[in-house]
Amino acid sequence: MKREILRIRGGRPLFGRTEIRGAKNAVLPMLAASLLTPEPVTVRNCPFITDVDDMVCVLRALGADIERRGRDIIVSGSPSLTEIPPHLACAMRSSVFMLGALLAERGEVRLFTPGGCRIGARPLDIHLDGFMRMGAKVEFAEDYILCHAEKLRGAEIVLRYPSVGATENLVMAAVKAEGITRIIGAAREPEIVSLVRLLRKMGAEISGEGTPLVTVCGTGALDGATVTPVPDRIVAGTVMAAVAVCGGRVELSGADSSSMGAVISPFLGAHTFLVEHGGSMTFESDGMLSSTDVCTGPYPLFPTDMQAPFMACQCYASGMSTMRETVFEDRFSHVGELVKMGAKIALAGNTAFVDGSAGMHGAELRAADLRGGAGLVVAALGAEGESSVSGVRYIDRGYENIEETFRNLGGNIALESVTV
Ligand code: EPZ
Repeated sequence: MKREILRIRGGRPLFGRTEIRGAKNAVLPMLAASLLTPEPVTVRNCPFITDVDDMVCVLRALGADIERRGRDIIVSGSPSLTEIPPHLACAMRSSVFMLGALLAERGEVRLFTPGGCRIGARPLDIHLDGFMRMGAKVEFAEDYILCHAEKLRGAEIVLRYPSVGATENLVMAAVKAEGITRIIGAAREPEIVSLVRLLRKMGAEISGEGTPLVTVCGTGALDGATVTPVPDRIVAGTVMAAVAVCGGRVELSGADSSSMGAVISPFLGAHTFLVEHGGSMTFESDGMLSSTDVCTGPYPLFPTDMQAPFMACQCYASGMSTMRETVFEDRFSHVGELVKMGAKIALAGNTAFVDGSAGMHGAELRAADLRGGAGLVVAALGAEGESSVSGVRYIDRGYENIEETFRNLGGNIALESVTV
């Protein structure tokens, strides 16, 4: 059987320029939102990643017309089906984002138990509680959830946790509901603000996005629109992590520093330098990192998606660092792999204690989820000797040609096909 692995020889500094494309976690809900109108919705500057490809497959399976013009995706037509294909729902968590749009558009949606990365239970109670508050009925079967509603009505919904997906789903369900919906305790991520910008262009009446209180006034039919999603702050942060570990100077073209405060701050110190210039950022590091204590949390705190890439940096930082993961309960799959490289990491509950004094060497590594895999690539780029990283399919879900990105910056990395 053929399997792809990344072959990495670390220790080379990174120099040059890389393009930061539209954020995966903005593009996916935007594609779901396109189901709210039969008119063409164009999402521009999409990354070539498999989560977007899978989402396009789901939209096609639901009966939408899709056209891809380079990095632009144009969706038109109405969903004729309301069942998300099982083989796709299990492939990725993002199929969950269809719930709100299909419920609003068709009054019914059947979702098979969604898949995606194994980073915890990832229940849907916050989404479903909100739909029920809006008048939907929810039925649970062994391996699927059925939601239906004659007509959704506006409601006051308090989220017990600022869930990104639940906030997005409830906003999309509310745009055509009868009356006003207030979402209290909403998530504030930049990707949500980006989604709302699209919905507003389509004619939706929404206010408060990016704050804990989002208000939606239900309207009638929505129009088509064209939107450019926010740039991917996690891809930008991952490239910064590689520069921090390897040393060098890289321009992150298209990165938006205004939404990256918490991502950037742990990187800043005596050995790094960041310049923001007209829609781009240039990050420089001499590769000598200082220890840092980091805690993940909902925006505007340090994003959980940067936890693994930044922990790779902590493995090279002099002294003891800590990484506390408060968003997902099982997001340390990369720790065992970093230890194979010589990292000294102790886990206590949701906190990792990283002693950066140990030297890191190449090893055979296995990615088990998207961001954990990216963290292993960052660590391997800085390590003495050669590493291999399997499970590339996880990384391809959220990073476009990660090997090309780092090879173009001077990294010694190649994608190989091996027979196992
Ligand atoms: C989104 O996932 C992102 N995915 C994730 O990115 C990201 O890590 C996460 O938000 C947090 O920022 C997309 O946008 C496609 P949540 P989502 O609902 O919406 C619990 C990546 O690598 N929860 O904010 O699924 C949940 O279990 C991915 O790009 C409930 O308990 O995340 C988790 O512990 C990974 N009940 C916490 O809330 C619910 O109904 C945060 O989840 C919903 C969530």
